[in-house]
Amino acid sequence: GCVIFFLMIATAFLGYVLPWGQMSFWGAEVITNLIGAIPVLGEPILIWLRGGPAIDNATLNRFFSLHYLLPFVIAGCVVLHLWALHAAGQNNPVGVLIPADRSKKDMLPFHPYFTLKDGFAIILFLLLFAIFVFYQPNALGHADNYIPANPLQTPAHIVPEWYMLPFYAILRAIPDKFGGVVAMFAAIGVLFVLPWLDTSKVRSMRYRPTMRTFFFIFLVVGVGLGWCGGQLPDAPVIPGLGGVVLLDGNLNSYLWLTRLFTAYYFLFFLVILPFVGLKETPLPIPATISEPVLTGADAMPAFAPASPEKKG
Ligand code: HEM
Repeated sequence: GCVIFFLMIATAFLGYVLPWGQMSFWGAEVITNLIGAIPVLGEPILIWLRGGPAIDNATLNRFFSLHYLLPFVIAGCVVLHLWALHAAGQNNPVGVLIPADRSKKDMLPFHPYFTLKDGFAIILFLLLFAIFVFYQPNALGHADNYIPANPLQTPAHIVPEWYMLPFYAILRAIPDKFGGVVAMFAAIGVLFVLPWLDTSKVRSMRYRPTMRTFFFIFLVVGVGLGWCGGQLPDAPVIPGLGGVVLLDGNLNSYLWLTRLFTAYYFLFFLVILPFVGLKETPLPIPATISEPVLTGADAMPAFAPASPEKKG
């Protein structure tokens, strides 16, 4: 899943270069430049990727080839993903493991149940997608990308597409260029080790109120990072309020707000998730998946004793 996510980001970035407008060109410039920040190997990789010392026709050609190729790699990964899903079985909203003797009662076949459910989700998505395509084609784009690419003129603000903004914000939060690149990739990399960071035996946050609170904060922080990524780093968060200068920026600036959010992003995965998993006493979990479905999840007695044996 994480590999698919990463390939999707890469494909979307490569695709965005193809219209060859100002944002395409300068986006490619900024992102490929990041690779140059890698010590020793950065420069040769950069030249190899761009097809020359600067972004040019050769870059456009290879980005198109890669943009064409990667969706097929993604399709292959999706097949592997489905295969893995079949081997491991699906999780469920209750999060309880299904004992082998109940697998017939508690499990449904993939087809027709999940193909129909996913088909329904795809229709909803396509409806939303169609609204953008037919009624608001420019809503998520940037006006500057209608200006043809010009290597001699840098646009006033280079902003990536909305779905890149949280990672872009993390990149800018770190004052050191290489450190920023490492943090940005680590933000995605941490997802790869997530199963090992979650130390709780209880899979669903429905029964982990403390962790759930931290998770809701995480959601707000994720959206907040996306918001910060689209703002100028030096712009004040609360206009009109003076603020105090700390190190390289005002505390009342998007720079520091982004840093705060970035800190929480990593704290959530690296500290809160493992620690709370070990410490939190979960609410009593149902014995089977059908129990809360048939009785209603809220029907569980609120005074049921906690089960400390399920800690950690
Ligand atoms: C995972 C699948 C794909 C994703 C996420 C994706 C994403 C994108 C994005 C974000 C753009 C920029 C659109 C714009 O700003 O105008 C783009 C452009 C483009 N993509 Fe894809 N794409 C995918 C698959 C493909 C495939 C399979 C092809 C086949 C050749 C393709 C060909 C193109 C072309 C030719 C453009 C340039 C369009 C233009 O200049 O207006 N894409 N893509």
